[in-house]
Amino acid sequence: MKILAIESSCDETAAAVVEDGRKVLSSVISSQISIHTKFGGVVPEIASRKHIENINPVIRQALSDANLTLDEVDAIAVTYGPGLVGALLVGVAEAKAIAYATNKPLIGVHHIEGHISANYIENQDLEPPFICLVVSGGHTHLVVVKDYGEYEILGKTRDDAAGEAFDKVARAVGLGYPGGPKVDAMAKEGNPHAIEFPRGAVSGSPYDFSFSGLKSAVLNYLNQCEMKGEEVNRADVCASFQASVVDSLVSRAFAALDDFGYKKLAIAGGVASNSAIRSAFISECEKKGVEFYYPSPILCTDNAAMIGSAAYYDYKNGITHGLDLNAVPNLKL
Ligand code: KG4
Ligand code: ZN
Repeated sequence: MKILAIESSCDETAAAVVEDGRKVLSSVISSQISIHTKFGGVVPEIASRKHIENINPVIRQALSDANLTLDEVDAIAVTYGPGLVGALLVGVAEAKAIAYATNKPLIGVHHIEGHISANYIENQDLEPPFICLVVSGGHTHLVVVKDYGEYEILGKTRDDAAGEAFDKVARAVGLGYPGGPKVDAMAKEGNPHAIEFPRGAVSGSPYDFSFSGLKSAVLNYLNQCEMKGEEVNRADVCASFQASVVDSLVSRAFAALDDFGYKKLAIAGGVASNSAIRSAFISECEKKGVEFYYPSPILCTDNAAMIGSAAYYDYKNGITHGLDLNAVPNLKL
């Protein structure tokens, strides 16, 4: 089954053709990062307009790269939430129009389910059940993937998402947007033990995350340096901040693996491409005999191939949508 998938929930306009949930026939991503960079973050209104401009060329390119015509795909999938409502609407309207015009099934996909499913693409042997840590710009979720399309959320962030914390710290140290990859690169030059930043915890909720205290600690540290006239070692700040995030993520994920007796762990979302996070999980999993799965960086950040994968399993579970499908900005998993 070949699915044409569309993703437009934030600042990437993406389309892909995916066969049977695991084989990517094409994947096209048009990033708007250079446009939003000058505003220091994603401007929703601009994102929607750019999606409108980009979506048809991106879909045409995805079909052409897969050597297929629209008639030759079997279903149309689209992210319908969560995300920016105006951005989501562009993809949803496009997918509905194509499904209507070609009389093919329409499958609305949850964006987080897409991130989790990116793991199926590169790990052909991965089957549920497993635990997945989803860390992106908008979400930090610790999830038990009980079966295809069946999720139990063990914990989530009580305040900032992990990616949001990376972006805010990057801005504070003057690295610009998007901050995650820049902090990752700068941290490589720094000492992760140089500054003792807090490891956020939520009392009584062992699987929940909190990153706002860490972000404030970084801002306070920078303010104090400025007041004292001390020069800031930005690499040490990045490395020490990143070490705190790594500890928070690793400790929650392994608590869940131990408590629920799982031996398989996957990570997903833009922050999952962070080099320190990946290597910490690789070495912990090796030590503890846990199988570890992670997508390549291009499948961690927003893309449509992951939506095509999730849609295949949704379809097999009997999920299709009517032409009344709407964008749901705060869609629950
Ligand atoms: O999954 P994604 O593309 O979009 C959302 O669904 O939110 O994630 C984007 C987030 C941004 O906050 C970005 O700074 C972060 O992922 N990110 C990273 C890295 N690459 C992207 N964070 C840390 N290290 C990275 N290498
Ligand atoms: Zn995402």
